[in-house]
Amino acid sequence: MAKQRRYIFAPVALVLFGIVAIFLLTIPTEDLTEPPECMYGIVLDAGSSHTAMYIYKWPADKQNGTGVVTQHSECHPKGGGISSYVGQQGAAGRSLQVCLDQAMQDIPRARHHLTPVYLGATAGMRLLNISSPVQSAQVLQEVGHKIQSYPFNYQGAAILSGQEEGAYGWVTVNYLLENFIKYGFVGRWLSPGRQTVGALDFGGASTQITFVTKDEVEDERDRMKLRLYGHDYSLYTHSFLCYGRDQVLKRLLAHLVTAQGHTGTVAHPCFPAGYSVTMKLGTLFDSPCTVAQTPSYSYNPQATLSVKGTGDYDHCLGNITEIFSFHSCPFSQCSFDKVFQPNVSGSFMAFSAFFYIHQFLQTTTGIPVTTPAQLEEAAHSICNMSINEMLVLAPDQEPRLQDFCAASVFTKVLFTRGYGFDEISFPHISFQKKAGDASVGWALGYMLSLSSLLPGESVGLRKALKPGAWAALLFLFVLLPATALMYASLQACRRKKKGSSDTAS
Ligand SMILES: *[C@@H]1O[C@H](CO)[C@@H](O)[C@H](O)[C@H]1NC(C)=O
Ligand SMILES: *[C@@H]1O[C@H](CO)[C@@H](O)[C@H](O)[C@H]1NC(C)=O
Ligand SMILES: *[C@@H]1O[C@H](CO)[C@@H](O)[C@H](O)[C@H]1NC(C)=O
Ligand SMILES: *[C@@H]1O[C@H](CO)[C@@H](O)[C@H](O)[C@H]1NC(C)=O
Ligand SMILES: *[C@@H]1O[C@H](CO)[C@@H](O)[C@H](O)[C@H]1NC(C)=O
Repeated sequence: MAKQRRYIFAPVALVLFGIVAIFLLTIPTEDLTEPPECMYGIVLDAGSSHTAMYIYKWPADKQNGTGVVTQHSECHPKGGGISSYVGQQGAAGRSLQVCLDQAMQDIPRARHHLTPVYLGATAGMRLLNISSPVQSAQVLQEVGHKIQSYPFNYQGAAILSGQEEGAYGWVTVNYLLENFIKYGFVGRWLSPGRQTVGALDFGGASTQITFVTKDEVEDERDRMKLRLYGHDYSLYTHSFLCYGRDQVLKRLLAHLVTAQGHTGTVAHPCFPAGYSVTMKLGTLFDSPCTVAQTPSYSYNPQATLSVKGTGDYDHCLGNITEIFSFHSCPFSQCSFDKVFQPNVSGSFMAFSAFFYIHQFLQTTTGIPVTTPAQLEEAAHSICNMSINEMLVLAPDQEPRLQDFCAASVFTKVLFTRGYGFDEISFPHISFQKKAGDASVGWALGYMLSLSSLLPGESVGLRKALKPGAWAALLFLFVLLPATALMYASLQACRRKKKGSSDTAS
């Protein structure tokens, strides 16, 4: 019996030795002796209210997997979006300098000329292109020149359409959640068979909703087909221009001014009690989102407007509801403003300003805000606070405090009456600004799509290990057990022979 165990021991030890050898062979070559060569990519997200820069990186030899591209660093310069520098020669370009200088430090020098840079502008520039196409082209040209003064590989500066912005946000979310393909056992990329997650984005000048739907998308402008890793995705995506946070606040005030008869003072039910502000009338009607409400007679853009907060939830809700249009729909069903939308389905991720509003509501009211009823309760409680009460609860949010009541009530109306989230679907929205270490937004999806990092077809079996390691693995899994088996049977034979001769004698 003891002898028999010893016969088994030899091949088992050999296998164990093999496994240990493989680990010693693969780990140091991947991590120590030869550090993985990284590739880098830069995206400048030129939003309406600010510009952000994201640097991504990925191992040079593993381009087509998902979850392979990670965020290396980010940069948020002070100051407004590029569209806010219109008319100031060179200012839009200079606003990028701090971040581009940082990129020079963040990316190894040897990689600079191999690093693609993309600048994508969104709704702020879409609006400027409406009000002044010449100025918008000038701003784009100027930021393009600025980027080209750096050694990176310039790939252009463009204004994204609303559909692109929505779709790239959706790609980012699902890439980061590894919903397309997932890294499986020994170098094989697998389809995880998971549902994708919808994307809800809230910028300064527009808001986007994007999700996969089985229903027919009745308006072709909101339809998008994507083929990723050999799978077809049928997307519904819509971007609402003038429904970003800053433009909503402007439209709300313009609506109040109009409804209250264009006097010099206006009562604002969404501003907290005790808060007041004065401004030039001209700053209110300078946007394509409000220009239609400009008073038709005796309009003086230099006139002063005095706004006083009244902190009245019901009036705030009433006035915010009036900036949407919920009547008349040319399709079988609409969200609002005559825009077709199929029923929402599945899970969603809400990011950018949605995340900050949700977080503010949670921390200042203590309400978890996972149902529409809780959202209403939290918004009600915020709108009911005076400016001094808010200052005590959230002193760090000081310059923006007065806007949270309107933003919360707007979010409630948009999600429940607009998009149609209810008690059952709303809890499937997760409010996030990051997934893993990467910021959620359209930037990553944009870079993945414009470079060759997002294949349409399945990438199949990929070699994640070095050829040497593969040979060793092959030996371990095929030759070693075979040898062990041969050895064992040989021993067994010999033993049998010996055994039979023993009994014979
Ligand atoms: C500005 O708008 C026009 C008309 O919609 C469009 O053709 C043009 O491409 C836009 N400009 C940029 C830089 O996207
Ligand atoms: C809008 O706000 C004003 C001022 O508070 C208020 O008088 C009016 O009733 C509100 N409108 C609605 C529809 O609630
Ligand atoms: C959409 O939702 C409404 C209300 O929940 C329901 O009546 C309708 O049948 C749904 N439509 C589709 C296509 O599922
Ligand atoms: C709003 O405040 C008033 C008095 O400050 C209070 O009586 C009322 O209960 C509050 N309502 C909500 C919903 O917090
Ligand atoms: C990635 O995919 C593209 C197109 O699908 C292909 O041309 C390229 O060779 C692939 N790269 C790697 C490293 O497999």
